[in-house]
Amino acid sequence: MKAIACGLVIFLSVSVALIYGESRQWGRRVSGDRQLDYAVVVNNSLPVPEKSSIYRYLSAPGAFRPPNITAIYARDNIPAGKGGYAAIVSGGINQANVTLKFTSQPYQRFNFTVEIYGK
Ligand SMILES: *[C@@H]1O[C@H](CO)[C@@H](O)[C@H](O)[C@H]1NC(C)=O
Ligand SMILES: *[C@@H]1O[C@H](CO)[C@@H](O)[C@H](O)[C@H]1NC(C)=O
Ligand SMILES: *[C@@H]1O[C@H](CO)[C@@H](O)[C@H](O)[C@H]1NC(C)=O
Ligand SMILES: *[C@@H]1O[C@H](CO)[C@@H](O)[C@H](O)[C@H]1NC(C)=O
Repeated sequence: MKAIACGLVIFLSVSVALIYGESRQWGRRVSGDRQLDYAVVVNNSLPVPEKSSIYRYLSAPGAFRPPNITAIYARDNIPAGKGGYAAIVSGGINQANVTLKFTSQPYQRFNFTVEIYGK
């Protein structure tokens, strides 16, 4: 009985972590890739119930063979489910650019560190 209750608690916490604030990763580092961009995306506009921000990585205009993205990390800097949610809107892994959208939980702020790698 105790074990079942314990398992249920773990199951519920995992579900909450999946629904709410979390760090996300797409793709993975490969040998020879390098950091293409690093950014901290924050939205602290307190009176707005649902905050959002768009982050864009574009390769340099006119670049010949721009690097293809290998890995994208969006690290939630706000602990324990108070942060936001990150999603790819366009571009992404194996492409030359990516647009991410960050959305907060109601009346919460968010703070994400974004890292883009490519080769
Ligand atoms: C914060 O979110 C609100 C609502 O989506 C938006 O109007 C505002 O421009 C955002 N602020 C920043 C700094 O992204
Ligand atoms: C990026 O991927 C495309 C399609 O797979 C490929 O044609 C291109 O050469 C790649 N660019 C680099 C810099 O590797
Ligand atoms: C966002 O989080 C980073 C890492 O914890 C911290 O250094 C930075 O001050 C935070 N920025 C804001 C505006 O809260
Ligand atoms: C994004 O990259 C793709 C190739 O991966 C390219 O076809 C497209 O034009 C790029 N978009 C922008 C806005 O640079």
